Amino acid sequence: MQEKLSEIKTSVLPAVEKATNLAELDAVRVGVVGKNGTLTAMMKEMGSLSVEEKKTFGAAINAVKTEVMKAIEDKKIALEDAELNQKLQSESVDVSLPCRPQNIGRIHPITQATEEALTIFAQMGFDLAEGPDIEDDWHNFEALNLPKEHPARQMQATFFFDNKNMLRTQTSGVQIRTMENKKPPIRIVCPGRTYRRDYDATHTPMFHQIEGLVIDEKTNLANLKAVLVEFFKLFFETDDVKVRFRPSYFPFTEPSYEMDLGGVMARNIGKEWLELLGCGIVDPRVLKNCGLDPEKYQGFAFGIGLDRLAMMKYGIKDLRQMFEADMKWIKHYGFLPLDIPTVTSGLSLNGGKK
Ligand code: DAH
Repeated sequence: MQEKLSEIKTSVLPAVEKATNLAELDAVRVGVVGKNGTLTAMMKEMGSLSVEEKKTFGAAINAVKTEVMKAIEDKKIALEDAELNQKLQSESVDVSLPCRPQNIGRIHPITQATEEALTIFAQMGFDLAEGPDIEDDWHNFEALNLPKEHPARQMQATFFFDNKNMLRTQTSGVQIRTMENKKPPIRIVCPGRTYRRDYDATHTPMFHQIEGLVIDEKTNLANLKAVLVEFFKLFFETDDVKVRFRPSYFPFTEPSYEMDLGGVMARNIGKEWLELLGCGIVDPRVLKNCGLDPEKYQGFAFGIGLDRLAMMKYGIKDLRQMFEADMKWIKHYGFLPLDIPTVTSGLSLNGGKK
């Protein structure tokens, strides 16, 4: 038996050493300690031995088994290490490979224009104000000096929900909401969606405005002009900006004007002047409606058509395309997220170039 044991040892240990992969090594293991393994067979034979012999041979067999198993375990670790190393080498990543094209979304031109406009107004010291899309009669009309039977209500073909609530036809209601809640000095801009029953190449039932309001003790038309001229210079990134104020009528301002933009942006599309916004000095009645003393406070307001602004800046021809959710169109006219300036990035606008 001793002999057999040393035979097993001398044949198995080199076999373990020779194994070149885990499968071979396992075959060796099974040959020794598997069901029909050599050592297993010897264990079985022990049944016929005397108690004394069992003790000595049992210990001898166990010693060989321990030694063999340790050799197999060590070899296994070595083989696994080698396998891992080989895998790491064959699977190494080539970092110089170009990456796969990514399909990332685009920023809609309206969002882009809004962000750019807000950035500029923030730099001028304006706060951002907001109001609801579903507006009540008081904020959309009444407080803006448009009483029930006022003919000007009809100019704004309104989507009503009931007698009291409607989709706001203008962002001007945010002027009221702001003045009701805040004492002057007030300097706010409010971009947002507005709605009217209209649809053709230059009108869509939903469109965007940006409203501005400045109320203080000494504000005047010259301030209004300075703010708007400065805004358009920065927004269109040119000093070639001319403005023209035409007398007009809005119930909530007196005097009221429509402002036209001249200069390079108008010439670009073969025109001398472009109608861009309504503005004026806030009517004393509106101040009163909001609980402000018109003897003490005054100010100006303006409402710019944001869609127009975006179309001019980015060369978009048809307003309706903006709201058709056509992916090809968005890919062409939209912006990569990095193009969006944030309020903290100051005036380093990139002109919306891709
Ligand atoms: N709310 C007006 C409109 O939708 C635009 C407007 C005109 C806003 C004059 C103003 C303003 O704040 O002062 O046509």
